[in-house]
Amino acid sequence: MSDHSGISRRSLLVGSGAAGVAGASIGYFGKKSSAVQSMTEVAKIGFYGVHQSGIENTPGLISNFVAFDLIDPTKANLQSVLRLFTDDAARLTQGKPALADGAPELAVNPANLTMTLGVGPSLFTRVPRLPSKPEFFNEIPAFPNDQLDPKWSGSDFIIQFCCDDSLTLSHAVGMIAKDLSTLAQVRWIQTGARSDKPAFSGTTSVRNLMGQVEGSDNPLPGNPIFNSLVWINEGPQWAKDGTILILRRIQMLMDKWEILDRSAQEMVIGRRLDNGAALGNKVENEPVNFEATDTLGLPLISANAHIRLAHGASLSERIYRRPYNYDNGIVDGKRDLGLIFAAFTSNPVTSYLPIQGRLAQSDSLNKWITAIGSSTYLILPGCTENSYIGETLFT
Ligand code: HEM
Repeated sequence: MSDHSGISRRSLLVGSGAAGVAGASIGYFGKKSSAVQSMTEVAKIGFYGVHQSGIENTPGLISNFVAFDLIDPTKANLQSVLRLFTDDAARLTQGKPALADGAPELAVNPANLTMTLGVGPSLFTRVPRLPSKPEFFNEIPAFPNDQLDPKWSGSDFIIQFCCDDSLTLSHAVGMIAKDLSTLAQVRWIQTGARSDKPAFSGTTSVRNLMGQVEGSDNPLPGNPIFNSLVWINEGPQWAKDGTILILRRIQMLMDKWEILDRSAQEMVIGRRLDNGAALGNKVENEPVNFEATDTLGLPLISANAHIRLAHGASLSERIYRRPYNYDNGIVDGKRDLGLIFAAFTSNPVTSYLPIQGRLAQSDSLNKWITAIGSSTYLILPGCTENSYIGETLFT
């Protein structure tokens, strides 16, 4: 399909809301620059598929989680948002400018860009006549230690952008915000980053801002266990092959944490700082022995250690974690940093909630962290070239 036919397709897809924007692109697309043509064959992640990308692939080095609310919550407007998103994301993730792209040169290096859309529980009360949501899909209740701030919590929908290049990421976020501006407004943006180096040689885990090795005990994408833990396979048909994203903004109280000596920091988690091995083990991936004791008969991994309480009581009580770090420097005289905890699960009621319940009650780590934001989204199933993300909500 030519770019010109793409423009008319977009006008047809979304109606008058974005027509002015689409019209503005004709000048550019009439004459394609050679820079755009020559730089498209670089690192990119496919957009179409049974599942949306941005979950199973290696996380990009930087991320923006952008939360939106519909301005006028109608079914037609939601449909336009989803169509526009699909059209933009299918292009931008492949190194092609979006239609009406004001800076097309910024799109040519996709740098493993992924764009993943999820809908919030509020959408199902605000938009009339949507199909019902799965029973297991609700906001996560606040836990006793939480200090949730509305400026980091909840919205009608979210787009998770992950990428290896800050210019590409910024361009994609700006492009989407502009394209959706007549239909939805941004409520908040959370910006995150991951280390570009594994925590140590021979691992795929990375370090977080507390210096810990993270990712040691996480289901591996692609295998059957991962599939059943992550992809929705029960409830309404429209949600099948989607997943639930739990997004928590967790502040780290670094000034207090850094006072602890190394062995105390290791006891809080139950793993070593140097190589991520569980206490009592030699290497990171050795199965954890929660019964191991020291010479005095005391447990090596204490009753309140983070990994003991977070460890699933059964195989179904597991989640897939794909977190990012955030650091805003010094705010009001204090360091403002922490973890954008992003976890995916096919059913938060049977997996996430029991884990979070135990952590909230007695996790040693609670003294050094505070959850300040919390949101839940249903990441919609993927789509083909002939459909759009979220089409199953309207069929
Ligand atoms: C700032 C907050 C947090 C930090 C710094 C943190 C850190 C860690 C670390 C270092 C590990 C061990 C290595 C690994 O397996 O990845 C771990 C494991 C884990 N964490 Fe967290 N975590 C945080 C919050 C949470 C939250 C909110 C949950 C879920 C409610 C959670 C669930 C888990 C799970 C399921 C494991 C694997 C346990 C196992 O089976 O061994 N974590 N975390």
